Amino acid sequence: MSAQATTSAETVVTLDVVDGIGVIAMTRPPVNALGEALRSGLIDALTDLNGRDDVQAIVLHGEGRAFSAGADIREFGRPPSGPTLPDVLNLMLDGPKPVIAALHGVAMGGGLELALAAHVRVGVPGLRVALPEVKLGLLPGAGGTQRLPRLTGLAIAQAMILSGREVSAEEALSLGILDRIGSGAAREAGIAAAREVLAGKLSPRRTDDLTVAPDAEAMAAAQARLDAARPQLDAPCKALQALAAATGPITEGLALERRLFLELREGPERQALAHAFFAERGTARIPETDLPAREIASVGVIGGGTMGVGIATAFLLAGYPVRLIETEAARAEAAAAAIGRNLDGAVKRGKMSAEARAAAADALRAGCDMTTLADVDLVVEAVFEEMSVKIELMRRLDAICKPGAILGTNTSYLDVNEIAAATSRPEAVIGLHFFSPAHVMRLLEVVVADATAPDLVSTAFALARQLNKVPVRSRVCDGFIGNRILAHYRKSTEYVVLDGADFAQVDRALEEFGFAMGPFAVSDLAGLDIGMLTRRRKAATRPAEERYSRVADRICEQQWFGRKSGRGFYLHDGTEGRPQNPDALRILAEERAAEGISPRSFTDQEIVDRCMTAMISEAVRVLEEGIALRPADIDAVELFGYGFPRHLGGPMHYADSIGIANLVARVEAYADEDPHYWQVPELMRQMAREGRRFADLNGE
Ligand code: CAA
Repeated sequence: MSAQATTSAETVVTLDVVDGIGVIAMTRPPVNALGEALRSGLIDALTDLNGRDDVQAIVLHGEGRAFSAGADIREFGRPPSGPTLPDVLNLMLDGPKPVIAALHGVAMGGGLELALAAHVRVGVPGLRVALPEVKLGLLPGAGGTQRLPRLTGLAIAQAMILSGREVSAEEALSLGILDRIGSGAAREAGIAAAREVLAGKLSPRRTDDLTVAPDAEAMAAAQARLDAARPQLDAPCKALQALAAATGPITEGLALERRLFLELREGPERQALAHAFFAERGTARIPETDLPAREIASVGVIGGGTMGVGIATAFLLAGYPVRLIETEAARAEAAAAAIGRNLDGAVKRGKMSAEARAAAADALRAGCDMTTLADVDLVVEAVFEEMSVKIELMRRLDAICKPGAILGTNTSYLDVNEIAAATSRPEAVIGLHFFSPAHVMRLLEVVVADATAPDLVSTAFALARQLNKVPVRSRVCDGFIGNRILAHYRKSTEYVVLDGADFAQVDRALEEFGFAMGPFAVSDLAGLDIGMLTRRRKAATRPAEERYSRVADRICEQQWFGRKSGRGFYLHDGTEGRPQNPDALRILAEERAAEGISPRSFTDQEIVDRCMTAMISEAVRVLEEGIALRPADIDAVELFGYGFPRHLGGPMHYADSIGIANLVARVEAYADEDPHYWQVPELMRQMAREGRRFADLNGE
């Protein structure tokens, strides 16, 4: 074996030659994103190997955990420089030597497109391939819309590109994306395939020489789905347009694809979705990040209601043994049965194997004896949201749990400092605020009280990773980040209703804006009693100047709590559509009359502007009080816990797109009607003065 190694300037590519086979390794951790340096390195490496007489074939693989995760997403906002990815692909595709792409880990986006331009593709088990660009507001911009259909046919390519779905090595082989699945490391599998190519046992081919059969039915079905989608996003529409060109000459298809890709790259949808991508990952940057996490080998969950059941399920899905405590045996049994149904659902949705489900069920112990929690590493309480109940429980846990155990509270509003102070070990108490259904929703607010030990915070973040959650660090305040913003924002929706809109218009306006469900429909689904209890709890501290809508309280007085009682803001009696509850509208009319309000009309846009301005204003207060670490964390909370439309990036990103000065002007204008509710937060005013954006505060 002869070996020779050269290294490019930034060591993003290494080269060696093995028995006449040139081996290019991409070495840009963590995931070989195809940034400028890597693209240049690949151009140099291919040029070098193409010109060498001692090289007959080329293997391209990635070092580390991935072949390549595609284009470097961080580069999109910057002016383009250096060779483009299509430049790299063309050099490979039209070069004199066959290129074998050897894939492992992930080959996504531009990473897969790189492989699609190779002459042979070998994968190893565990590989996942995808063209997920639409999730980032893009389309595959380096030949994916033209070359994938040449390998798989139009219907499969269209389904993969419009969904961004990941495909395993085995499926990729069956779909024609891979030529074979090798064994061992990708590099060795690639070299073995190259040897077969040189021995004439494996035929290399140019993907571009293949043709695509038209599939009018699949294309029409996809178009119909996109037309029906709300909101209608730009990227999937343009991706479909590019795919439609795949049946024609490839040069034309590639030119169209590139033009559409560049349009999307500069667009707001791409910017927002890239922001969401980094917001999700950026929440882990916390002051406690370097502190070693404690080991969590066993978990106790207290409370077998909806939250407790969901939390226990989340831990079981992640492989933790769980002891669930209820007050009576029958309740414990009911909770165990509900958890069993959740696990069944996970198996049905392909999230868990039947064996893993059996193991998870075995790992659950549900009972009433709290002393069985004496040796668990973490307890999460999810009992009734009432301070006296929480305090009483924490005192008992304090007496029972071993030293070093973490006492987590799943309170969604209450003062974690007060809860912690009830124990003899406030440093062991932390807020772990899950969102319902807790085994599905990705957000986990990690609420850090004044006395919480810093390594509890790093432990909670490590735990969140195991649970596949998006942890966001919050300090203590009423409602923490998410529910505090929600409480303020919900008032704005009540005020526009009182002033002249109705429940359906507000819901429709915010759904058209991008929320899956408007606020009144959400209340009906969750139960109106939740809001009622919150309002009662806050009644004593409500400022006299605060405008108060009695509409929801009066609906609740009728025992109408939404879907579960057949009526709320809407009727839930099986009537077609979403009819408003006529009695709720009557109550609304009576309340307007009692307040002397003559209803006026609002456009949908006015409603969205008011409600979003309210949400942003409170979010800014959360930021300036240091409750949230950075604007992107607030975006993550809203995206992963409250259904904020992802293509708008979250309220802070959206605020930047409106402009801070414009927001100040809006709040000042609304303040003429209600100076108590509409106040410009000081940070907002200051940022407007200085011309700064929230993005500047993210430290990106
Ligand atoms: N560009 C830049 N950075 C990337 C990246 C990319 N394409 N993919 C991942 N990263 C970064 C992440 O931000 C993260 O950085 P930090 O450690 O600083 O937070 C790091 O790599 C590791 O990523 P994850 O934490 O997500 O690791 P994971 O193992 O959970 O997931 C992954 C790995 C599946 C590749 C996931 O990161 C992912 O889905 N990446 C995006 C893939 C993608 O969408 N590619 C298409 C890009 S657009 C394109 O290619 C356009 C084109 O057609 C030319």
